[in-house]
Amino acid sequence: MNTIGPIGVFDSGYGGLTVLSKIISHLPEYDYIYLGDNARTPYGTRSFEVVYEYTLQSVRRLFDMGAHLVILACNTASAKALRTIQQNDLPGIDPDRRVLGVIRPSVEKVGELSVTRHVGILGTAGTVQSESYLLEIRKLFPQMHVFQEACPMWVPLVENNEFNGKGADYFVKKNVDALLAKAPRMDTVILACTHYPLLLPKIRERLPEGVTIVEQGNIVAESLKDYLKRHPEMNAKCSKKGTVKFYTTESAEKFRQTVGLFFSGDVQVEHIHL
Ligand code: DGL
Repeated sequence: MNTIGPIGVFDSGYGGLTVLSKIISHLPEYDYIYLGDNARTPYGTRSFEVVYEYTLQSVRRLFDMGAHLVILACNTASAKALRTIQQNDLPGIDPDRRVLGVIRPSVEKVGELSVTRHVGILGTAGTVQSESYLLEIRKLFPQMHVFQEACPMWVPLVENNEFNGKGADYFVKKNVDALLAKAPRMDTVILACTHYPLLLPKIRERLPEGVTIVEQGNIVAESLKDYLKRHPEMNAKCSKKGTVKFYTTESAEKFRQTVGLFFSGDVQVEHIHL
């Protein structure tokens, strides 16, 4: 296919909007389509098979809508589905299209930042159990010590607009303290879930001052910018009129009511079935 199209950004729900906002501020000239699988969120507690199947359906739909390049702005989908889609599905769908995730750029950043080489990962149960961060870090930085903590309540707190409340205080303290107990020499923590930036003030409060918190939005945006520079053939296939369109598997009205928590600006949203 020779046509040009928008860059696709996928998340299980609203969290990927924290990444999309940063991508747009780094690369405002491109067109974007965002797909949130809000009807089936959360992915964090689902099996490999289910996350893979849902993610593949979403990627195919974004391709059908004209995207040549899709960013999985979701750690759980990147952890459980990206590798299989890249290796098994893309060659059959269209070997010239690309799907990129959020794990690799985040791990590269941690490699630059950590001095003690003790790093922490805060993520969904699915991301933690997949051990994708462990594997990626082991591959790039074999000397690094990695400590993980699953935070299963954090996504529901954010999705339900409870991230400023007392419940959030309780669960952030619980999980951050558990991570610190395992990793007293840790100097860098990855927020390995796109929802967690909304809990950042509470996470910052619980962590010792010397610990650097790695948020993914800017990192993924910079990595995409670099990718497009290194791949002029892909860059040429990305349309550039500065538009953003949103698609949700839930009701468009519901998406419109919540989107403001994660994304500021004009939102044109349409409901789709996968
Ligand atoms: N957006 C997902 C992530 O970054 C979390 C939400 C979910 O569990 O679906 O892991």
